[in-house]
Amino acid sequence: MPQARIAVVGAGLMGHGIAQVFALAGHDVAITDSFTGNLDTVKARITANLRDLGDDENAVERVRPIADLADAVRDADFIVEAIIEDLPLKQKLFADIEKHVRPDAILASNTSVIPITAIMQGLRERSRALGTHWWNPPYLVPLVEVIGTQWTSPQAIERTMKLHAAAGKQPAHVKKDVPGFIGNRLQHALWREAVSLVERGICDAETVDTVIKAAFGRRLAVLGPLENADMVGTDLTLAIHKTVLPAIDSRPGPSPYLEKLVTQGKLGFKSGEGFRRWSAEEQAALRSKVVQHLKKARANDEHL
Ligand SMILES: NC(=O)c1ccc[n+]([C@@H]2O[C@H](COP(=O)([O-])OP(=O)(O)OC[C@H]3O[C@@H](n4cnc5c(N)ncnc54)[C@H](O)[C@@H]3O)[C@@H](O)[C@H]2O)c1
Repeated sequence: MPQARIAVVGAGLMGHGIAQVFALAGHDVAITDSFTGNLDTVKARITANLRDLGDDENAVERVRPIADLADAVRDADFIVEAIIEDLPLKQKLFADIEKHVRPDAILASNTSVIPITAIMQGLRERSRALGTHWWNPPYLVPLVEVIGTQWTSPQAIERTMKLHAAAGKQPAHVKKDVPGFIGNRLQHALWREAVSLVERGICDAETVDTVIKAAFGRRLAVLGPLENADMVGTDLTLAIHKTVLPAIDSRPGPSPYLEKLVTQGKLGFKSGEGFRRWSAEEQAALRSKVVQHLKKARANDEHL
C-alpha cells in the first residue's frame, strides 16, 4: 500500500499505540492531543514499545507530534480519533476536524461503545465518517472493527479495510452501527452470565474464570463459536440451546450484584477488591501475564 498520511487525535493509551502501528507500516503519522504533557512523551512511549517488541525503532521517526489540531489533520488521508469516551467532546472534535480536512479524507472514531451514528450525525459530509474500533494494546491485538453508519460510503469502508489490513491488522466489517459493535456484544454476553453464576451462588468468581480459561477459552483463539457449532453439528447445538438458553441470564440491564459491588466501592484493581481481592503484586502479575501471552500469540502468528 502506498505511504498514507495518517492523523491520530488523542495521544493516550490507544492513540499512541495506533500511531505506532501505522508508523511501523511505513505511513507518515501526525499525532495531536489537547494535553501537551501526553504529546511530549508520545515518541518515548512508542520507542519503548518498539524496543520491547523487537520492532524497528526507526519507525518512530515517522511520528510527528503536532500541538495544533488544524495543522495535524490538514493534509491527512485518514484521521482517527482516540480522545476520551465522551459524546459531546467527540461531536465537537469532529465538527472542528471537518473544518480543516481535505475533501477526500476519511474520518474515524475509536470509540468503545458510543454509536458512530451519534458521533457523526452533525457532520456536513457523513459519507466519509465511520468507526475503527481497535483493541488494547493496539500493537498486539490484531482485530480492528470497521463500523459503517447508514451514511458511510462503500468506498470509505473499502479504503479503511485495505489500509488496516496492509498495516498488519485484521479488519472486520460491522455492517450495522449497533451498540457494542460485534466484539463487545459477544464479550459482554459472556460477562453477564459470568456475573450471574456468582450472583446465584453456583460458584465463586475465581471458579468462573478457571472454567473459562481451562476449557473453551483454550480453544477460542483458534475455534470460533460458529465454527464450533458446525464441528459438533447444528442439530446438537439446537438441542443444547433448547435446554440451556431458558436457564441462563437474559435480564436486559446490569446485574444488581455488579451494581452492589460498585456502590460498596469494590471497583476491582483500583480499590484492591472487586469480584475478588487483589494485592498490588497480584495485579502486576496478571497484567504481565496478559502481555506475555499476547506477545507469544503475535510471535506465533508471525511463524504461521
Ligand atoms: N483503553 C482501551 O482498552 C480502549 C479500547 C478500545 C477503544 N478505546 C477507546 O479509545 C478512546 C481513547 O481511550 P484511551 O484509553 O486511549 O484514553 P486515554 O485517556 O488514555 O487517552 C485519551 C487522550 O485524549 C486526550 N484528549 C482528551 N480530550 C481531547 C481533545 N478534545 N482533543 C485532543 N485530545 C484530547 C487526552 O489528553 C488523552 O491523552 C476512547 O474513546 C476509548 O473508549 C479504549
